[in-house]
Amino acid sequence: MMRTRLIAGPVTGLVLSAILATVLALVSSAETLVEPLRVDPSRPAPVTLRLPAHLVLHSSDDGEVLQVERHLIRRGETTASPEIGSAVRAYESARRPPSATELGSLWLLYFLLASIFTTYLRSFSPSRGALLRTQAGILGMASVLLAAGKGFLLLTDFSELALPVGALSLWCAFYLDRRTALMLSVAMAFFAASLVGFRLVSVAVYLAAGLAGTVTFRNRIQARGMLASGLAAGLASGMVFFAARVVFEGGQDITAEIADPLHSESLAAIAGGVLSGFIAFLFQGIAVLALGAVSRGRLMDLTDLNQPLLRKMKEDAPGSWEHSRAMANLAEGAAVAIGADALLTRVGAYYHDLGKSVQPKYFVENLVGGEPSPHDGLAPHVSADAIMAHVVEGTRILREGGIPEPVVEFAYTHHGTSVIEFFWHRCEEEGNPLGLTKAAFQYPGMRPRTKETGILMLVDAIEAAARTLDPPTREKFAALVQRVIFGKLHQGQLDESRLNMEDLRRISTNLVETLCSAYHSRIKYPWQKKEEEEEEEEEEEEEAARTNEEPAREAVEDQTIDDDQTVDEDQAVDDQTIDDDQADEDRIETVAEVLAELEARAGTSTQIVADATLASLGADLDAEDDGALEDEASVAELDPAAEGELPAGSLAEALASAAPPPKETPE
Ligand SMILES: [Fe+2]
Ligand SMILES: [Fe+2]
Repeated sequence: MMRTRLIAGPVTGLVLSAILATVLALVSSAETLVEPLRVDPSRPAPVTLRLPAHLVLHSSDDGEVLQVERHLIRRGETTASPEIGSAVRAYESARRPPSATELGSLWLLYFLLASIFTTYLRSFSPSRGALLRTQAGILGMASVLLAAGKGFLLLTDFSELALPVGALSLWCAFYLDRRTALMLSVAMAFFAASLVGFRLVSVAVYLAAGLAGTVTFRNRIQARGMLASGLAAGLASGMVFFAARVVFEGGQDITAEIADPLHSESLAAIAGGVLSGFIAFLFQGIAVLALGAVSRGRLMDLTDLNQPLLRKMKEDAPGSWEHSRAMANLAEGAAVAIGADALLTRVGAYYHDLGKSVQPKYFVENLVGGEPSPHDGLAPHVSADAIMAHVVEGTRILREGGIPEPVVEFAYTHHGTSVIEFFWHRCEEEGNPLGLTKAAFQYPGMRPRTKETGILMLVDAIEAAARTLDPPTREKFAALVQRVIFGKLHQGQLDESRLNMEDLRRISTNLVETLCSAYHSRIKYPWQKKEEEEEEEEEEEEEAARTNEEPAREAVEDQTIDDDQTVDEDQAVDDQTIDDDQADEDRIETVAEVLAELEARAGTSTQIVADATLASLGADLDAEDDGALEDEASVAELDPAAEGELPAGSLAEALASAAPPPKETPE
């Protein structure tokens, strides 16, 4: 197994959490650790001091018990009121310097919260959350945002509710997924509230901003949707503020709010949500880079056909290059259809088979007419090694060429961990003299972990087979697409790809349309078919007329015998057809029950789909899957009965055909 992108394990998760906890403990206690930042009522305050509500303190002057209410000493302000001055002195004496116990407890709270979040990322996040780069990026940005928030609180006198806490969740929803963003919203609400003494109203407002922004951010393709989500977050925050203020703090002083709108907490709560969307939109380019994405500009550069690696492929492996270009069009359209990153998918298609430029003649698309295949004189396992090497070599060349890792990922995932059935079966047919196992014929890559790489895996298999369809009809394209998708599901290759049933249906429909468009010049119109049929009929009639003009007796007898034979054969074929039809109907009935359950689960992960499919169909399919060797031509050889029964774009009906998945064949 080759080296892949670094995954953050449990220990790494704990280390990252410990680093975040240390940073946040220092940030949240910053003003109490630095003595010059102490607020003394007798001189201008060096920083803004926010006295929390319902705090009971002992006066540092005479030991009198003080009931401290929420109050704000602005930066540069001198405290005139003796009562407030006593409260400020008592509050500052009580909290500085912070004791080791206080700092340790704060650290522990941050650590536990961060550990829960990193565990979620590692175990449950359905996308790139398990990657070290992603985890470090999220926690790093959380630290920066919270440090900036602390600075805002110390240097200004605006309400803490104006903090744009939901921005990080929107970035996460944009680059990763909304489920992870929801978890992040919860963690960020508590982190931010710790900066203001865990005020319950603040916790509620921050939660509302993060959650509302995330659930309303539906279209991951359009970043400007962040602005609308920010507006929704602002409205939710405003409403939650009114409710939380009544529940936790006994009511709202509307008069004071109207008198000083600049410091109104209601408006600050709304502004916090709106600011989250605005800041998320403004800095989304930098943020996704921090999370490990590739910038649009870099991706555009990589599509330049003068790029040295692409030119090398075009010169050394022209057939593979044409395959990659055809794939790019198919894969890009499919990515758009499900809201995945279309540009990344196109770039991935361009580079995925770069490893074929090392030994191009091992791949059939690079052989010119009549050129002998180097596989002809090789043992099956040697041929398989030569084919599989393009995955490893491609990954190496791309990394050495400084291609971003999200693009390299397409090279080592586009065949997943599938087996090259063609050579494995040939090895078995030859008696397997070396006693090899099936694992020796398995690609040394890893299964797709993103929707984009999942799409490319499907398109890779479909593009090659689509060229062999003759004549290319919509029905044949539909059957091919559905068989490839079902085959990959059956093999479990899409289990980690995040593609759900709805995605697969949209991809299937889109690919069929794109294939029909690409091959439209080869697809015959109905009137052309009719003309051809009429011509055939005329030819048959002419042939029959010629036959009738030769009334030789022996010939007539021979013809009679032949006709009898033909009748017998026709009868046998009819009987067989009836048997086959009956078998198909039985199979469809069985699978229809599975489909009902699968469709009820639409939207669930492909893992569930694959499990359900395997559980119900496994026995039959395994029996067929282990059957006779299928070569590349037979992959494209489609069952005519299935063709007639499968409308384009229906994965469900593809399952109903219950045909065995196509075997991996050499490229
Ligand atoms: Fe490949
Ligand atoms: Fe390929």
